[in-house]
Amino acid sequence: MCWKRELRGSRRLKCQADGRTDATEGGIGVMNLSRNRWSSRGRTQGLPPQLPNVSIGGWILVVALLFFPLSLDPVLAGEYHVKEEACSGCHTAHFSQHGRAPVGAEPGGPFEKLLLFSSPTKLCLSCHDGSDVDAPDVLSPVSTSYGPDQFSAGGFFEYSGGTPSDRGHDLGTWPAEVPFSGMAPSTLTCTTCHDPHGNKNYRNLRSRPGIGTGTPLPHNNPSLPTDAVFELVHPDGRNPSDVYKLSNIGYRTEMSQWCVECHDRLLPNQAGSLPAHFRAHPVDVSVGTGGMHMDTQHWLEGTGAGFGTAIGDGVSGIPRVRFQTPSATTFETSLLPSPSNQVFCGTCHYAHGSPYAAGATWPLKSPADSADAYAACQQCHNQ
Ligand code: HEC
Ligand code: HEC
Ligand code: HEC
Ligand code: HEC
Ligand code: HEC
Ligand code: HEC
Repeated sequence: MCWKRELRGSRRLKCQADGRTDATEGGIGVMNLSRNRWSSRGRTQGLPPQLPNVSIGGWILVVALLFFPLSLDPVLAGEYHVKEEACSGCHTAHFSQHGRAPVGAEPGGPFEKLLLFSSPTKLCLSCHDGSDVDAPDVLSPVSTSYGPDQFSAGGFFEYSGGTPSDRGHDLGTWPAEVPFSGMAPSTLTCTTCHDPHGNKNYRNLRSRPGIGTGTPLPHNNPSLPTDAVFELVHPDGRNPSDVYKLSNIGYRTEMSQWCVECHDRLLPNQAGSLPAHFRAHPVDVSVGTGGMHMDTQHWLEGTGAGFGTAIGDGVSGIPRVRFQTPSATTFETSLLPSPSNQVFCGTCHYAHGSPYAAGATWPLKSPADSADAYAACQQCHNQ
């Protein structure tokens, strides 16, 4: 049964329609079905106003935790999951409610850190798998109104856990290696990269996501500045289709530095061994460098080779790839084509993953969309 489906009729839902999550990591999809914790915010249509959904144990935890020092970020200036969320949305004190598991919890608890689910990833995906209309869906396939503009900025994970894919980051697997990194492999979860309690960073990203042991190159990145990224519309708990679309986001700086917290061998623009100039494609370099490889005028004009209206329409060319503008002071200026636009990791990769190899932002190695195979490169290089 899917209570949300019943309550919300034809609004976007995939509670049960999509068996994909059930097949992996022990049935995340199933977990959603009886859960109604959202209604504790009193804004789920059709439900009476209520508090009772919040477990008694949850409230005990809230009270109990007030007496313990917490290692939460002192500057709770981030956005969603900072202002809005009650502790009991994710934790429970005794894993018992009238002698049964708390409503919405995965059976078999209590779990580590008194979470309602057996892993942070399952917990996060209990809302972020598309079953909750208010939470951005980060799991592919996305059965929503997400059009090309609404391809979420983080992109979509191929699987909920346990299955490796070459189309982006893998959750819940033990990778053979961390590419371009001195780090020893370890398992990625949602909370490797995001602080579940929120912080002052864009998307609650952890300032130091680097995990595990190994021999990462020593580097001293600045923390992500609070204005690393501009957003026109900010999340309010129920507007994901306005917030996570590409046209709502203007990148300013430091996102590549954030990626190389783990992929430390890609520290921007390390000298390669000749004849290669760099060890990898340069990042954080402006398109106006006048470098012999760059066609700055072509980039500024935004028409012709590489540029087009949509991915996969059979016509060569895609919308302008993402770029960052360190000199920008506002959302509007961050999106203006200019010689100070820079190529960064996000120009070519989505952070979570995409339908294409290596989480590419364009149809890389995708025979079905071969018209767009070189589109991203052509926008800057026009070879
Ligand atoms: C969105 C879900 C979510 C909410 C809301 C939440 N937590 Fe957590 N909390 C987590 C997760 C996930 C972990 C485990 C972190 C990990 O393993 O990386 C955790 C861990 C903790 C820990 C263990 C120490 C630590 O940081 O790992 C404490 C204490 C804690 N939470 C307290 C709270 C309190 C108090 C609140 C309410 C102010 C709260 N949490 C709200 C998800 C949440
Ligand atoms: C917490 C550490 C960590 C951070 C931060 C991180 N990565 Fe990764 N990345 C990994 C690990 C581990 C793997 C190998 C396993 C896998 O594919 O998930 C990987 C793999 C990849 C791959 C290969 C994926 C594939 O399927 O072939 C790409 C591309 C990538 N990362 C890009 C990025 C970009 C871009 C960023 C910044 C938005 C980033 N990474 C941030 C740990 C990290
Ligand atoms: C390898 C690091 C990494 C992991 C693992 C990761 N995220 Fe993200 N996530 C990011 C980054 C970076 C962004 C911002 C991307 C951007 O704007 O370019 C992001 C964006 C988001 C957003 C905003 C919507 C969007 O798509 O832009 C949500 C929601 C989100 N992540 C949830 C999750 C959840 C849930 C999980 C686990 C299922 C998860 N993330 C795992 C790095 C990660
Ligand atoms: C109870 C449902 C629920 C759970 C559980 C949940 N989220 Fe969310 N999350 C939401 C909603 C709702 C939003 C806000 C959507 C909007 O209005 O834009 C959100 C927003 C986010 C954002 C974007 C925040 C921003 O300010 O840009 C990130 C990142 C995110 N969630 C990550 C996580 C991670 C990581 C976990 C697991 C620790 C998690 N979420 C668990 C419902 C949930
Ligand atoms: C947003 C703009 C942008 C995009 C998109 C882009 N590049 Fe570049 N590229 C640059 C800039 C800037 C430089 C450094 C300046 C220069 O060398 O002219 C560069 C440099 C290069 C170089 C020279 C490296 C060296 O060793 O000197 C090559 C080769 C290259 N890019 C290939 C590609 C390929 C292949 C793609 C598509 C996968 C691509 N670029 C996409 C902006 C871009
Ligand atoms: C101009 C485009 C471009 C830029 C900028 C770029 N990449 Fe890539 N990256 C690619 C392409 C294309 C591939 C896939 C190569 C292949 O499969 O042949 C790739 C592959 C990767 C891989 C997987 C390597 C493997 O062995 O599986 C990682 C990790 C990665 N990139 C991380 C990053 C990070 C981190 C940044 C920023 C510091 C970055 N990339 C910037 C285009 C780019």
